[in-house]
Amino acid sequence: MRKIMVTGAFGQIGSELVPALRKKYGNENVVAIGHKSKPSEKLMEGPCDSVEVTDKKAFEGKIKEHGIDTLYHLVSILSASGEKNPGLAWNVNMNGLYNALEIGRELPLERIIMPSSIAAFGPETPRDNTPNETIQRPTTMYGVTKVAGELLGNYYFKKFGLDVRGLRFPGIISSEALPGGGTTDYAVEIYYEALKKKSYTCFLKPDTYLPMMYMPDALKAIMDLAQAPISKLKHHCDFNVNAMSFSPKEQAESIKKHIPEFMIDYKPDFRQAIADSWPKSLDDSTARREWGWKPKYDLASMTKDMLEKLAEKIK
Ligand code: SER
Repeated sequence: MRKIMVTGAFGQIGSELVPALRKKYGNENVVAIGHKSKPSEKLMEGPCDSVEVTDKKAFEGKIKEHGIDTLYHLVSILSASGEKNPGLAWNVNMNGLYNALEIGRELPLERIIMPSSIAAFGPETPRDNTPNETIQRPTTMYGVTKVAGELLGNYYFKKFGLDVRGLRFPGIISSEALPGGGTTDYAVEIYYEALKKKSYTCFLKPDTYLPMMYMPDALKAIMDLAQAPISKLKHHCDFNVNAMSFSPKEQAESIKKHIPEFMIDYKPDFRQAIADSWPKSLDDSTARREWGWKPKYDLASMTKDMLEKLAEKIK
């Protein structure tokens, strides 16, 4: 890996993955590619650019211009936004990925890393300790594009020998940039509101269990997978990664240990049905076996760290 491009770089994961990659490979060697929103000051410490990934010619032009050999293709319309605008989700998630893979095959690129999601599962999937290989019949457009993306990535590896790798992220919790348009966003918002208002109205029911992961573990997961020796990988674009599972009620209890007056109430909306179609926890033994995946944070250690970081940030 010499020259890296990260699409979706101004989003929740990109905002922290770009600095982590720059620390490892040098600021000038990691290009942050966004769309409309402006990059943060932190991202401006290295090269930033913008492109429509749905425009193959423009996308390819940027990859050539920056001399890229490795692409982290993060850009995606998440589950809740995707249900409001399924056509946009299809276009960005599917056509954007297809363009990335085609460019990767033609140039060629050395490696493409693309996140999938727990949204690649559906209501018929076993929900507890969901196996790596199981029924994948998602009921959201986001999920449809994620399953198709996994299959497409595996196809490009098998058919064209393109080194494409991907992992199924659970809900990601982080303090740098807010997520946008996801069903797991509540698990981030709750910390901000706990500090600002000492109360939060959750859009999921109190006992909705979902798999979650703290950002330092998510960064470790994607960077470790990206660097794993290819000879060790039997899977490519479809690794379950698990860290912790909790409900909004349990998360509120973990916050109350630090902010005793914190109150939560519940007004479930359309996102409840999405959450109810996803796994509660994942069997990630395949990732552990093939590239040594092991998370560090649990709910208690994450809550402590999030509250400390956000208290500093919103002071
Ligand atoms: N965090 C995502 C969402 O809620 C799941 O991958 O849409």
